Amino acid sequence: MTAAIEVRNAARIFRQGTGAFSTARMIRAVDGVSFSVESGSCLGIVGESGCGKSTLARLILGLLPTTSGDILIEGQRLADLDRKARARLIQPVFQDPFSSLNPRHRIRDIVALPLQAQGITGREQTTRVEDMLARVGLPGAIADRLPAQLSGGQRQRVAIARALVLRPRIVVCDEPTSALDVSVQAQILNLLADLQRELGLTYLFISHNLAVVEHISDRVAVMYLGRMVEQAETDNLFAGPTHPYTKALLASVLTPEPSLGIPDTGLGDLYPDPANIPKGCRFHPRCRIAQPTCSQDTPPPRAIGAHLVECALA
Ligand SMILES: Nc1ncnc2c1ncn2[C@@H]1O[C@H](COP(=O)(O)OP(=O)(O)OP(=O)(O)O)[C@@H](O)[C@H]1O
Ligand SMILES: [Mg+2]
Repeated sequence: MTAAIEVRNAARIFRQGTGAFSTARMIRAVDGVSFSVESGSCLGIVGESGCGKSTLARLILGLLPTTSGDILIEGQRLADLDRKARARLIQPVFQDPFSSLNPRHRIRDIVALPLQAQGITGREQTTRVEDMLARVGLPGAIADRLPAQLSGGQRQRVAIARALVLRPRIVVCDEPTSALDVSVQAQILNLLADLQRELGLTYLFISHNLAVVEHISDRVAVMYLGRMVEQAETDNLFAGPTHPYTKALLASVLTPEPSLGIPDTGLGDLYPDPANIPKGCRFHPRCRIAQPTCSQDTPPPRAIGAHLVECALA
């Protein structure tokens, strides 16, 4: 069976600084990542702030070109798909439902926009918008309101309706519940889970909230400095983390304020500079079990049980 998403050695380098060549910094935000997501499943992605999660999401959505590597969506090269074809296959749900909704447009028009762009208008457009608003649990009366007249949870439901109105196969959720009140987070998470089942969707689900990822994902990938250092089925990963970084991440104490990002990992505050990635294993300066060879040799991914791990010592 063709994977819904297949990523082959994808990389994205940002050039930072406009000055002379010597002062420009090359940030390897995504640095050679390979994985696939089976159709109808959910891959969760976790990792500290700045590890490249959102950059990876933007690459997969086609919002940002890769520097190298290949991305296939349902077997088709992303680079070969035009904007309209991409929109029919894959859609995003972002963190902040306020900044992602045009404040001057009525809810009805916000949700209709992807249909409009595909030339779906008139009665069919109206019916599909109303159906989708109902599906995400919004009362019909909301259609004529503006985003500012809605609660945070309602706004995120609108963003979800907009993402699903074209009936895409894949949804990329980048911190979809992180900006919401804790009481609303569970409702939105459950809605996303229900919709995935009902519509047979494939999810790429990014969150720094490990509990959220554990709840919704079938598999989990752990990112560190632009690479996936461990991938495994959710149960296996949480029951038996194998990479020293995954272990530190899972041992971290959850803070009550999820928007603060991944809580104290016990690894020290210093996250390495992505423009200056450590030689050898990129995690070695923070690793408790590092050996002298770890600063020399880059560990290739290897299978340990059912985990795929980039560590020579695990
Ligand atoms: N447009 C850009 N130009 C330059 N650097 C960028 C750009 N976008 C991201 N970066 C850098 O790339 C790295 C990865 O950023 P990214 O936003 O993907 O991280 P993230 O894992 O999503 O973090 P967070 O959890 O805070 O959302 C960071 O060092 C960031 O500063
Ligand atoms: Mg991000």
